[in-house]
Amino acid sequence: MNRVSRSALCGTITPELNGQDVSLCGWVQRRRDHGGVIFIDLRDRSGMVQVVMDPDRQAQFAIAEAVRNEYVLWVSGRIRPRPEGTENPELPTGAVELLGHEIEILNASDPLPFQIDDVDTGEAVRLRHRYLDLRSSRMQNNLRLRHQVTRNLRHFLELQDFIEIETPVLTRSTPEGARDYLVPSRIYPGQFFALPQSPQLFKQLLMVSGFERYYQFARCFRDEDLRADRQPEFTQLDVEMSFVHEDDVMETMEQMIRDLFKGVLDIELPSPFPRLSYAEAVGRFGTDRPDLRIPLELVDVADLMRDVEFKVFSGPASDPGSRVAALRVPGGGSVSRQQIDNYTDFVKLYGAKGLAYIKVNQVAAGRDGLQSPILKFLPDDVITEILKRTKVVDGDLIFFGADTATIVNDALGALRVCLGHDLEMAEDSWSPLWVTEFPLVEQDPDTGQWQSLHHPFTAPREDNLPLLDKDPGAVISRAYDMVLNGTEIGGGSIRIHRTDTQARIFQLLGIAAQEAEEKFGFLLDGLRYGAPPHGGIAFGLDRIVAMMAGEESIRDVIAFPKSQKAACLLTESPSDVAGSQLRDLGIRLRAAQAPVPDSNSA
Ligand code: AMO
Ligand code: AMP
Repeated sequence: MNRVSRSALCGTITPELNGQDVSLCGWVQRRRDHGGVIFIDLRDRSGMVQVVMDPDRQAQFAIAEAVRNEYVLWVSGRIRPRPEGTENPELPTGAVELLGHEIEILNASDPLPFQIDDVDTGEAVRLRHRYLDLRSSRMQNNLRLRHQVTRNLRHFLELQDFIEIETPVLTRSTPEGARDYLVPSRIYPGQFFALPQSPQLFKQLLMVSGFERYYQFARCFRDEDLRADRQPEFTQLDVEMSFVHEDDVMETMEQMIRDLFKGVLDIELPSPFPRLSYAEAVGRFGTDRPDLRIPLELVDVADLMRDVEFKVFSGPASDPGSRVAALRVPGGGSVSRQQIDNYTDFVKLYGAKGLAYIKVNQVAAGRDGLQSPILKFLPDDVITEILKRTKVVDGDLIFFGADTATIVNDALGALRVCLGHDLEMAEDSWSPLWVTEFPLVEQDPDTGQWQSLHHPFTAPREDNLPLLDKDPGAVISRAYDMVLNGTEIGGGSIRIHRTDTQARIFQLLGIAAQEAEEKFGFLLDGLRYGAPPHGGIAFGLDRIVAMMAGEESIRDVIAFPKSQKAACLLTESPSDVAGSQLRDLGIRLRAAQAPVPDSNSA
């Protein structure tokens, strides 16, 4: 008998099969010895079933006695109903069990470094033994979900006439705002490839080549500060289309995302997705990726504060680069002094110097119905106007931020999300939107140099071209970001398809003609040979899957992710290499720096 193959899968054993003989293979989830009867929970990719070994079959029973957790078994036997009272309604196979006739150990397992499915295991240990961690039902479900997502997206794109084309990984730097990962060349000593931060330039060239509709599940590499939603190596669903306007790309892509949520989670997303301009998003929510599920908004009050005694407010109120804003918290009157202190510490993380507040006990009583350390600085008419503008009612709280616009937006924008969660104001729903009308460039506060908000290949609005010389900061780009529940899941734009415009943008960004030629000459050359108007987008696949799986971190939807310190704990990379390899590459190291170890955080 071939004892490696099986006649059924563990998860498919249900009462209709009672009385049938089957053979199963799988891992021992748990083995229990109940006074002479041995129970084995046997797990394979489909699920789990209980196996009972009968002591009357002595030789087989002896084998079962030797079995430990995570041993790999072959078992054959007869399916039967579980004795009354011992059914497990939690399990699809919980009404039956397999009475084991024969059993064979296909492989043993060392004792495990952690219990699979133990939610308290630290992440460093999980990543170190990722192959075991991936056995957990959580990780199995996440990776299966990821597969469903990519299959669904591919299916949609194929029906829309897109074709998948691979672009190189060993290439030249693609600027997306992060540091490059470099790969030294042996054949050209002293020269380096860069791993792509995105396939941006290649997909544009594919439009020059006439493919018109391209997509790719593309691995991208960015050496940047890591967070829960950022990995040094991540996957984009990268898309580019020719002969399109913003609306063509946006409508096609939101249909794709709607189909995805319907197909995989049976969730209906709105049609069309709401759209907000960058200015409105930042004005109302302090961020260009607002979580619209949280019903809190920033309200500008600078015009009221110009002449007040309180310098903290009157200073920024008169400064064009600054902002004074209020945030009404419905029912926030119940927030304690201690909690306000905690929120004050929280906004300080974003550079705020403090967090003024007014507790609104009774609106009708005016000043006497309010509680606040800053009341004494504010005249009656200002107070009246604040109450009116923020639309407060009895029992509310108002927070204030006054500083540079960036600090106020960052601080109150983050506070808004934090309060939304703390006070359980966020609706339990899915809230996608487009953010559009981004500025093309922003000024580096230190150097004064103009920089792209997206990347340098983003087209400015045609009617804004005259502003490029006069007032670059006022130029609006043809970029769009897709935001879901406060996370940017995708971003793209209509591109510059003419070399003259591209040259003007490089000039604005302080990239000299020669430097542009050196870095992007191949793209500029391509644009000269009949480049069609084109545009596209890239989605963060890991982020989409993490949100759909309900995971906080994209690490939990990537089979073999890097740690928070950008290392692979499984393979212990990056690692030293042999001196001979370095010699081949023409590289000599400076004094080695001590690495920062990963902590074993949960
Ligand atoms: P962008 O830089 O906005 O655009 O990237 C597109 C999307 O990729 C995701 N993303 C990341 N996910 C995980 N880890 C990271 N480090 C990371 N960085 C980005 C985000 C983001 O929205 N070439 C352009 C796209 C275009 O213009 O078509 C680009 O790469 O979800
Ligand atoms: P102070 O007069 O510095 O004690 O501040 C009075 C109140 O204003 C306190 O509640 C501070 O937290 C708050 N505050 C101080 N600076 C700012 C600021 N830049 N924006 C908002 N509130 C502030």
